[in-house]
This record gives sequence, C-alpha cells and structure tokens, in this order.
Amino acid sequence: MSRTLTFPDGFLWGSATSSFQIEGGVEIDGRGPSIWDTFCAAPGNVRGGDDGRVAIDHRRRMPDDVALMAELGLQAYRFSVAWPRVQPDGRGRVSTSGLDFYRDLVERLQAAGIEPLVTLYHWDLPQALADAGGWPVRDTAKRFADYAHVVGEALGATVRHWGTVNEPWCASMLGYAAGVHAPGQVDPGAAVAAAHHLLLGHGLAVDALRASVQADAEISITLNPYPVVTDGRDDADRDAARRVDGIANRLWYDPLLRGRYPDDVLADVEAVSDLSHIQEGDLAIISRPLDALGLNYYRRHHVRARAGASVGRPKGQWPGSPDVDIVDPPGRKTDGGWAVEPEGLTEAIVRLWEEYDPPPLYLHEIGAAYDDGPGPGGGIDDRRRIAWLEAHLEAAADAIAEGVDLRGIMVWSLFDNFEWAEGYAHRFGIVHVDYATQARTPKASAAWYRRVIQAGGLPPAPE
Ligand code: FCB
Repeated sequence: MSRTLTFPDGFLWGSATSSFQIEGGVEIDGRGPSIWDTFCAAPGNVRGGDDGRVAIDHRRRMPDDVALMAELGLQAYRFSVAWPRVQPDGRGRVSTSGLDFYRDLVERLQAAGIEPLVTLYHWDLPQALADAGGWPVRDTAKRFADYAHVVGEALGATVRHWGTVNEPWCASMLGYAAGVHAPGQVDPGAAVAAAHHLLLGHGLAVDALRASVQADAEISITLNPYPVVTDGRDDADRDAARRVDGIANRLWYDPLLRGRYPDDVLADVEAVSDLSHIQEGDLAIISRPLDALGLNYYRRHHVRARAGASVGRPKGQWPGSPDVDIVDPPGRKTDGGWAVEPEGLTEAIVRLWEEYDPPPLYLHEIGAAYDDGPGPGGGIDDRRRIAWLEAHLEAAADAIAEGVDLRGIMVWSLFDNFEWAEGYAHRFGIVHVDYATQARTPKASAAWYRRVIQAGGLPPAPE
C-alpha cells in the first residue's frame, strides 16, 4: 500500500526524451551526421546492429506526439536539441528548418499548456567536430557555446528551463574510456580531457545562454549521480569505492559547485593524464552560478577491488583506476538487468543537498526498462514499471521531507526508444511504440502517471 504523499505547490510533473533516441529523420533539415550515426554504422557497437535513422520517427510525427502528451496530462516535457540538425557541421552555418522544427515543437507544447525543458547536448555531437578531435579537444567547448547562443536566440524568448549537457560522465567515460558509447574510443587520458571540456563547454554555454535568453530563465546541467557502496571489508575495497565515487560524482559536483577539482581525484587520474588541458581561469567558468541542477537516477554502484577489472572496452570507465570492479548486487532487477534500489535515490539527493549546498533540484530522469508488450486485448500492463515509479516517488518524497528543494520529476521515458548501445532491445517508455508501424499506445503506467499528476502525488486520483 502506498503512502499519501503530497508534493510541494508548483511541483512540475513531466516526462523526458532525447533527440537521437526518438527523432529519426536524419535526412531532413540538411542534418549533418552525428557521432552516434557513425558509431551505429560500425558493426559490433550496437546490439542487433540497430541505429537511429528512423528511431520512432518523431521528426515527422511531432505534432501528433505533442497531442498525445496533452492527452496524458503532462505538465512538462524535457527534450534535447540535436546539434547536427541545427548546425550540420557543428560550427557556422545554421539550418533554418532545423531550428524551425524546435520552434514549432516549443510553440505546440506551450499551446497545450506543457512547459518545455530544453537540453542542448544529449550526446549527438556533430561528426565534423569529432573529426576535429571531439570533446578531448578544447575547441569543441567553444563550438558548444556558439551553438548554445544560436539556440538561445531562437528559443530564449519563450523557453524558461534550460539544460546544457546531459550526463557528462557518460559522454566522457563511456564514450572515450570504455568505448561503449560514441565515439567508441578507448583512451583514458582522452576521457579525462573530454570530461574537462564538457564542463568548460557547459560553463561557456551558461554565459552564452545568459546573453540570449530571458532574465528569469532557469539554467541547469544534468548529472547522473550514483551512491557508491561496497560490501568489501578490505582497505582496497574502500579505496575502490572512493575512486568510483570520485569519478562518478565528485568529478562533477566539485568543479561545478565549489570551483575546484577534488585533490584525490586529480591524483588518481594523473596516472593517465598530465592534466595540461586544465587552464588558468577554467574553473571560474565551470562554476558559474546555476539556477537549478538536474539529476538522473537509475541505481547505485556496488564496488569491489579486483586487479585489472576496469581496463579497456567495455569496463574501462574509471580512468587511472584499473583495479575497481562494479559488481551486481543480489535482489530485484529490471529487464535491463539494473538493480531496483529506490533508497539510493534518496541517498543521492540528500548527499548532494547536505554536502554541496546546490541550487534547487529537478529529477530530469527516473525510470526503468520493463519490456512488456501488448496483451491479448492490446493493452500493455506494465505494472512492474508502476511499482518501480511508485517506490521512486516515495524516495523522492523522503528527500523532500529531509529538507531538499526538489521542484519536479521527469519520467524516463515518454516513449520506448533507441537505448544507445542496447539498440531497441529494452523498453523504457510509458508509451509503447510498435517499431514496425510506429503506432504509439499508452501503457498502464501512462494512465497511472496521468492520475498521479492530477492528484499532485500519491495515491493517484481515482479513475
Ligand atoms: C540515461 C540517459 C538516457 C537513457 C537512460 C536510460 O543515462 O541519459 O538517454 O538512455 O539513461
């Protein structure tokens, strides 16, 4: 039985997607290729050889998709702008029709009473910039600021909620160290430089947005913190946990919110990088004041020390720390194999709140892969997702009860979609997508969520 939970007045209830995962339409708007197109095209990178050429065809079906969001009662919708749709070469020339697509999306959302939350970078870097070195190269941060300015000018008069980068940990460590995300490099030193330039790009983009969007806009970045735990008793296990916490969490929190890198993390990564990419003045830019901070939460990291466990592809995601291992805890898992750990959400939020004194928080993503399809009557009974979401709403409410200023929740994801290296194998949507016909069918969780929004919390309003 769920508890009665009322969320604060004005709490924003919505759902999220990202450009590459839903848009398709790669040939429209003169869109340039992104690193994810290139990554998908190389055999062995993505499960089933899947790619984003069609995805869920949102570039063409957007008006109907917005109409569906309104039917579902969403108050907010977090989406990302595809940089290569706006700037096909990642610099200079702007695609008017690309920008118009996002203008049209924002207008339709606002006409439907749905608050748009715009993310500028959800991993689809223009391939032209990757060819010039990508995030390990400083110039990419400057190109990102120019692009932020272009989008800020186009949408800034009406959009209030802005996010710069989504999950820079994934973009740097999975993309450049573990090689399991685009661009698929396995170079821990490059990943350390990429992390810095993603942060620098974020800070420069904050300045670019401040110069181009309305004064009361809320500017944020989206991080994916993981509570880190170990059941090991050795000093080595505890040190492994410290290292993972360093790269997963503190590598982002400290520069953004305190204007410095943590000493122990710098010492760890010095094993693979001379840190010459960090220049005088960078941290002042990286730590520009933010109006909000977005968090994405899925699960904890359970850590053990194990010699050589984190080297190369696919596990080398902790640069300078080859001897740490992420282990699978016992207990319930989603269909994607991720542990179900709602208490970890409270832990992540409260730790950030108490240790770092951040600006107001939003959950920009919470959600789970449950692969249920249509039953005999055509309906999708994803009751495991409802249970997962219910437990995580309770965990969020627990954080609020501890004094955290949490202002909204975006469920990941509105639609089943392209789940990166997993292709279309796993389904995160509250709306089912039949990939053969592109038919959208709201699942039981969408109806449940609509009633949660109506009630402003739990229990959901009656049917
Ligand atoms: C997050 C990503 C999002 C989605 C979920 C499952 O790391 O931001 O695009 O893939 O995981």
